[in-house]
Amino acid sequence: MRDAAPTTIFLKDYTPFGFIIDGVELTFRLAPKATRVLSRIKFRPNPDATDKRFFLHGESLTRISAAIDGKSADVRDVDGGIEADVPDAPFVWEAEVEINPQDNTALEGLYMSNGMYCTQCEAEGFRKITYYPDRPDVMAAFEVTIEGNEKVLLSNGNPLSQSQGFAKWQDPWPKPAYLFALVAGDLLNHPGTFTTKSGRQVDLNIWVRPGDENKCAFGMQALKDSMKWDEDVYGREYDLDLFNIVAVDDFNMGAMENKGLNVFNSSCVLASPETSTDGNFERIEAIIAHEYFHNWTGNRITCRDWFQLCLKEGLTVYRDQQFTADLRSAPVARISNVLALRGRQFPEDQGPLSHPVRPKSFQEINNFYTATVYEKGAEVIGMLKTLVGDAAYSKAVDLYFDRHDGDAATIEDWLQVFEDSTGRDLGQFKRWYSHSGTPRLTVREEYDGDTFTLHLSQSTAPTPGQDEKLPQVIPVAVGLLSPNGDEVMATQILELTEAEQSFRFEGHATRPIPSILRDFSAPVILEQDIDKTRRAFLLAHDTDPFNRWEAGRMLARESLLASITTGAAPDAAYLEGLGAVLRDDTLDAAYRALMLGQPTQSELAGLLHEAGITPDPEAIHTASEDLRNAKAAAFGDLLPVLYQDNQIDGPYSPDADGSGKRSLANAALSLISRTDGGALAAEQYAKADNMTLQLAALSCLLDAGAGKEQLAAFEQQWHGDRLVMDKWFSLQIMQAKPDQVAEVTTRLTQHPDFDMKNPNRFRAVMGALSMHHAGFHHKSGAAYALLAEWLIKLDPVNPQTTARMCSAFQTWKRYDPARQTMMSAELDRIANTKDLSRDTNEMITRIRSA
Ligand code: BES
Ligand code: ZN
Repeated sequence: MRDAAPTTIFLKDYTPFGFIIDGVELTFRLAPKATRVLSRIKFRPNPDATDKRFFLHGESLTRISAAIDGKSADVRDVDGGIEADVPDAPFVWEAEVEINPQDNTALEGLYMSNGMYCTQCEAEGFRKITYYPDRPDVMAAFEVTIEGNEKVLLSNGNPLSQSQGFAKWQDPWPKPAYLFALVAGDLLNHPGTFTTKSGRQVDLNIWVRPGDENKCAFGMQALKDSMKWDEDVYGREYDLDLFNIVAVDDFNMGAMENKGLNVFNSSCVLASPETSTDGNFERIEAIIAHEYFHNWTGNRITCRDWFQLCLKEGLTVYRDQQFTADLRSAPVARISNVLALRGRQFPEDQGPLSHPVRPKSFQEINNFYTATVYEKGAEVIGMLKTLVGDAAYSKAVDLYFDRHDGDAATIEDWLQVFEDSTGRDLGQFKRWYSHSGTPRLTVREEYDGDTFTLHLSQSTAPTPGQDEKLPQVIPVAVGLLSPNGDEVMATQILELTEAEQSFRFEGHATRPIPSILRDFSAPVILEQDIDKTRRAFLLAHDTDPFNRWEAGRMLARESLLASITTGAAPDAAYLEGLGAVLRDDTLDAAYRALMLGQPTQSELAGLLHEAGITPDPEAIHTASEDLRNAKAAAFGDLLPVLYQDNQIDGPYSPDADGSGKRSLANAALSLISRTDGGALAAEQYAKADNMTLQLAALSCLLDAGAGKEQLAAFEQQWHGDRLVMDKWFSLQIMQAKPDQVAEVTTRLTQHPDFDMKNPNRFRAVMGALSMHHAGFHHKSGAAYALLAEWLIKLDPVNPQTTARMCSAFQTWKRYDPARQTMMSAELDRIANTKDLSRDTNEMITRIRSA
C-alpha cells in the first residue's frame, strides 16, 4: 500500500497537542523537482496536555537535516511522521527537507499548475511541505521567505520585504497550518481597494496568468460586496492591509480560504460574458463571498479538530446563502438551495454514506467535505436562527465572535453562546449534529367547525450505525389560507419536539387550508396526504413563494410517478396550474423558470426506491421526456411569447434581472426546440453574444438531434479556453441519448484535450457521465465499467478527486438485481486494485457495506 494501513480516527479520542508554538519561520528555495523547505519553529511544553510525546506529521518528505536547539536531532521515523526526544522546556526545532512540486499530481501540499507554484493545505496537506503538528488546534504566527525566479512570490499576511527573486511575508494572526499558502509564478494582478467601516484601506488583488486579466472585474466586485456585507450584517471587518486571490487551473476543490491569500479554482473566479454563463457568475459571486466570510468563521475562529468541520463550513455556507439571498432574489435563492440539498444531500443521507453533520469517526478527512457537513450543516444553522429569532441570533453570534476570537472551537462552544445569550436549553437541538438520516414529517389535519388541528409526527429510518433515533427539534413554519386564497394566519413557527404532537388553531369558521414547512423551514421529508385539487390551489394561491413552487413540484412529481408506474398520461391539472403561473407577469422571470423545471430522474429513482418500487431508469427517462413534450404541446402558444418577452436589448449584465430573463427565455427555448427541430435555437446560436445564450442554444440543438455544425464551430471558437472547453466536453455527454452516453464519453476521453490530471476536465467528462441518469444506468452496464476504469486510472494520480467521484455508485442498492450485480462487480474491481489510496478505499468500503 502506498498509504499507511487504514486507521480510524474517533472524535472521542481527542487530546490536545503536547506543545505550544511561539513562532514559525519558513524559507522556501523553489525548484520544480527539488524545492528546499527550511523551518525554524519555537516550541514550549503545553501545561494543559497529558500526552507529552513530540510527534510531528510528515509525508513524502526527504529529510536533509533536523536539529533541536542547534544540535543535530535524533529523529525516529514513525507512521505518518517523526518523533524525537525534546527538553521539558522551550526549545527551537530546525529542519530542512526536500520536496518535489512538479511530480505532485495529487494537488495537495506544494504543487505546480501550468508552471506556477501553489499550495493546498486543508485539511492535512501541510505535512507534505514540512514536519509540523498538522492539526487545526495548533495555531502560530508565520514568517515566510520565498526564494525563486518567478515574478510574483506570495504568501499569507503582509509583505515585509521584496526584491528580485526574493520575498518575505509576515502573517501576524496565529493560524493553523491548514491556512498556510504560498504562490509563485509569472502572474498579473487585477487591483482594487476597499475602505473598511473604521476607515482602514485594504489593497485587493486578483492574480491570474497572462491572458486571463480581462476576466477579473466581476470577481473583484463580488469581493468588495462581500466585505461590505460582512460589515453591515455581521459587523465583521477585514483584519489585514492586503487581500489576495489567485486563480489556478489545477485545483481539487472550488476554492480555499488561506489567510489573506485565497486560492481559487480558475472556474470559480474567472468570468467574462463571452465565456461564462449566468450560473457561473452566480457561483463565482457566492464562492468569493464564502471564502472571504471564512476570514471570521474559520480563520479568526477555527476548528479544534476536523470533526468540527461543520462549525466553519456549515456556518459559512449559511452566511454565503444569506448574502446571495440579500443581493439577488431570496425565494429564488431558497429554491435553488433546496434543489441542491435534495439533489446531493438527501441521496447521501439515505444511502450507505450517510453520516451526521458532525461525524464520530473517519479514516480520511477529505472524504467528509460532504453535502451533509456543508448543506445540512447550513440548514442546521438556519433552523437555530428560526427557533431563536433574528435578534437573538445576532446577539449570540456577536457573543461567539467575542468569546472565541483566536480559538480553535467546537460545536459545544457554538451552542453554548446561544444557550448563554437566550437562556434556552439546546440539549435536544444538538441531536441535529449527531443523528444521521433525513427525518420524515407526517401531517394529519382535523377540523371541527371552529378549531383546526395539525397532528404532526416524525420518524427517521435507520442509517449506518444508527438504528434507533430520538425525536429532533423541528421548526415547522405554517401559514393558513382561506378557500378564496387569502392568508388567514400569517406564518408561525411550530416547534415539534416529540415523536407526535398536535397544534390547535381556534376560531376558524371555515376550514382553513394549511401551507406547511414554509420556506423549507427544516431539512426533512414532508409527507402530506393531500389531493391534486389542494396542490393546485396552493400552486395558484400560496402566499409563501417557496411553498407555491413546491406545490407545482409535487404535482409534477406525482404526475411523473404515475406515468412511470401506471403509464398514465401527464397530469392535466398540473399543466393547467403551471400555465397560469407562467402567464402571471407579476412573478419574476427567474421564479417562473424554476416553476417550469421538474424533478430530476435520479430524484425520481430515489422516490420510487423509498416507496418500495425498483426504479427502472428507462421508464423514468421516458416519463420525463413525455412530460417535457406535453409541456411543449400544451404551451405551444405561450412559449414563443415567453421567449420574446424575455429577450434583452443592450449589453449583457449578470444581475438577477437579466439572468432571470435569460433563464426563462432559455427554458422556453428548450421546449420550443422539441417541436421546431431546433430552428429557433439555431437562430439564437448564430446571434448569441454571451455564453449563457450560446451554450443554451447549443444544448437545445443537440437535444433536438441537430447542432453538429455548431458543435464543431464552438470547438473552433473556444479551443484555446480551458473553462469553455470543459463545457464543450460536458454538454455532449449530457445531451447524448442514453444508449450512446458511454460511447460518446469514450470518444471524448480520446480527444487530445482530455487530460485526466486536470480535475476540472476529468469532472467535466466523468461527472457528466455519472450524472446522466439514464445513460449511467443503461442496461448494458457500459457506463459503470467506463467510470470504474477511469477511477482506477486516476486513483494513483489524484486520490482526492477519485474518492469524491466514487459517490456516483452510492445509490447502487436502489436498482434491480442485474444492475446491482454489475455495479457491485465494478466496486469490487476498484476495491481489488493494487495500492488503492486510503481515500478511495474508504469510500468504496463504505459504499459496498450497503
Ligand atoms: N475550505 C474549503 C475548501 C476545501 C475543501 C479545502 C476540502 C480542502 C478540502 C472551502 O472553504 C470550501 O468550502 N469550498 C467549497 C465551495 C463553497 C462555496 C462551498 C468548494 O471548494 O467546493
Ligand atoms: Zn468553506
